[in-house]
Amino acid sequence: MGTTPPSHAVREVNRPADTYRVTVAGRLDDHWADWLGGHTLVRNDDASTTLTLPVVDQAQLHGVLGRIRDLGADLLALDMIGEQPVCAPALDRPLHTERLTLRPATTYDAEPTWAYRRLDSVNEWLTGVPADLEEYRTLFAEPSRLAATVIVELADDSGGRVIGDFMLRLEDAWSQVEVVECAQDAQAELGWVLDPSHTGVGYATEAVRELLRYCFEELAVHRVVANCFLDNDASWRLMEKVGMRRETHAVSESLHRSGQWLDTVGYAVLAHEWKHPYARSSHEIKEKT
Ligand SMILES: CC(C)(COP(=O)(O)OP(=O)(O)OC[C@H]1O[C@@H](n2cnc3c(N)ncnc32)[C@H](O)[C@@H]1OP(=O)(O)O)[C@@H](O)C(=O)NCCC(=O)NCCS
Repeated sequence: MGTTPPSHAVREVNRPADTYRVTVAGRLDDHWADWLGGHTLVRNDDASTTLTLPVVDQAQLHGVLGRIRDLGADLLALDMIGEQPVCAPALDRPLHTERLTLRPATTYDAEPTWAYRRLDSVNEWLTGVPADLEEYRTLFAEPSRLAATVIVELADDSGGRVIGDFMLRLEDAWSQVEVVECAQDAQAELGWVLDPSHTGVGYATEAVRELLRYCFEELAVHRVVANCFLDNDASWRLMEKVGMRRETHAVSESLHRSGQWLDTVGYAVLAHEWKHPYARSSHEIKEKT
């Protein structure tokens, strides 16, 4: 198997790939790895060789296996070791409050949320304004975004009218390398957008309180954070109402699409501080720490 491989190589692909591990009998030379698409090749102690292959589709996998067969190498094992991480929703079941249902988003929620997100009064403080529903649909369906989106519906007899979409994103806390595993998914970030025809009646507060409960009691996170422009009073007041503490005030930090550099504020609440969120303000939390 130490012969020179043919000059043509497996075509390069730019799509997310699954990773397969293929073990064949015999000791393949390194240059066969190039011929098979530049994959990792390890010669094992038992005189077998293991190739690690990023594979974008079954046709490519069959092509690689065909080439291995052409080499005359016996296939000993084939297993998938690195599926693209599936973006599991941070909220995996509906939650119910007195007036609301919070549930994981689906792609069908693009249209009802676009109905209010397209309004200037709503998107003034949001990251971007998609040009139209089609562009928004694409962004909304992006797996990591969809997994972090929580739909807020009225729990009345309106048939589950969508009145908001919140963000619940799990993230790793910063840590030193020795304890990196303990910091995985230790922090959650929240965000919120409500249909303006349903603001001013406490729905955001009700939904955020339930998400905080879910984060601390069910996801067992250590810390929940949220950020907004300082000029977005409704947003940071909401953070304070649910017991979050202002921890940062960055001056002229973020460029608004108006061309102005604006201040931003960051809030957080820790698991051990979150005990009776309905009764505590950030002022009380500060006094305890
Ligand atoms: C930020 C946002 C979600 C806040 O929504 P909201 O409806 O104003 O928030 P709340 O749930 O706190 O409700 C506000 C008011 O409802 C009233 N309210 C509270 N509980 C109530 C209840 N149980 N019954 C009736 N009214 C109630 C109160 O007047 C309360 O205001 P106050 O507590 O300051 O007196 C909303 O303004 C929004 O979607 N903005 C656009 C998008 C945006 O900027 N997102 C944040 C980006 S960082």
